[in-house]
Amino acid sequence: MSNYKFAGLDTVELGKKYGTPLYVMSEDYIRDRIHEIKEDFLGKHPNTMAVYASKAFLTKEMARIIKSEGIGMDVVSGGELYTAIQVGFPMEKIIFHGNNKTVDELRLAVENNVGRIVVDHLEEIDLIEEIGKEYNKKVHILFRISPGIDSHTHKYIQTGQVDSKFGIPLDEKTIKTAMEKVLKLEYTELLGFHFHIGSQISDNENHIKGIKVMTQLMKKVKDEYGFHVKELNTGGGYGIQYVEGEKRKPLAYFTDSIVREIEEKCKEFDLERPLIIIEPGRWIVGEAGITIYTIGAIKEIPGIRTYVSIDGGMPDNPRPSLYEAKYEAVVINKMNKEKTDLVTIAGKCCESGDILIWDLKVPTVERGDMLAVLSTGAYNYSMSSNYNRIPRPAVVMIKEGQDRLVVKRETYEDILRNDI
Ligand code: LLP
Repeated sequence: MSNYKFAGLDTVELGKKYGTPLYVMSEDYIRDRIHEIKEDFLGKHPNTMAVYASKAFLTKEMARIIKSEGIGMDVVSGGELYTAIQVGFPMEKIIFHGNNKTVDELRLAVENNVGRIVVDHLEEIDLIEEIGKEYNKKVHILFRISPGIDSHTHKYIQTGQVDSKFGIPLDEKTIKTAMEKVLKLEYTELLGFHFHIGSQISDNENHIKGIKVMTQLMKKVKDEYGFHVKELNTGGGYGIQYVEGEKRKPLAYFTDSIVREIEEKCKEFDLERPLIIIEPGRWIVGEAGITIYTIGAIKEIPGIRTYVSIDGGMPDNPRPSLYEAKYEAVVINKMNKEKTDLVTIAGKCCESGDILIWDLKVPTVERGDMLAVLSTGAYNYSMSSNYNRIPRPAVVMIKEGQDRLVVKRETYEDILRNDI
């Protein structure tokens, strides 16, 4: 058999059984990564917490998997929070982010007792205090600090630089206002700080820089306000492999140095070592997913290039058009054929930028062949759209060689559902 296998199953068979385009996720892979987190971070370093950044990929079933593993979850919207609520996710393990949480979203969070709300700007402190008062509840918060670090990644997925829409800027006056404000409140309790420097980061240099900045701040608030930081949330951002030559690093590569740096700095500044939180998203699910497509139109522009069009594209994977993201792909029904042709994989949208892969080596392909794009587990389903009124693909989860549907394919009726 020369078909491509994923998580132990024949991908051509999966494509035929569920139709294409199709997202396929390996539950085994996801659990392996979480087990790595448990062994090499939570088990190795005391006083630590790990939450999955659910924006990378979230469905009810995914929330159930995370719940069953016992780690926490980071949400950034009412919709993500609602998904967690619907599967009975333990709310004390939820961290709620967002640079513009609405009053309704904050209410939903307080009503359901989420563990921590990460405050992104000063006015949000007042909103939370008011809502805490309304529900007569103590709300635990962290301040998201913009540490002023440029990470080596695409500018659209950098988040820690000075000129950023995220976080409380790290300037004297703003920090003073924030600290003076928060320490007076009755219904709001500051536990500590959060920073996140960006995504798809392959070295730990910027996390370390971030920690240097944050521990300085911890010292400053201790000296000036007598405030002891109980928690330091270091965000996510750990990179994965998309194309050959890249390699996902083991978690410990990032987390050992994060913990070491925090502990050294705490010693140096005579601070109590805080609870250390990490928030990986992509690292857990990115390589857990592939997308299966069927090849349709093939167009050769003599002397220029050959466009091979598939039955999906930018609506199910907007990353190439948004970030010039690179992907690897294989013709899954022709694995034993020699790769003789250089082609461009085009999506089916009415948009010139809808190209998934420029210059891919493939065997000679024809209509009806099937293609799998690899490492699509993160930020594909979660960023998918109905552009051109194209229904979203189904999501299939594989566990121990058994496939099951976890999200149904959208129908045309689904697309019209809210039209009046
Ligand atoms: N924590 C916070 C506060 C974040 O903003 C993010 C990602 C994460 C954790 C998880 O980052 P990860 O471990 O997945 O890198 N749509 C973009 C990525 C946007 C990431 C936004 N924040 C992409 O497709 O590359």
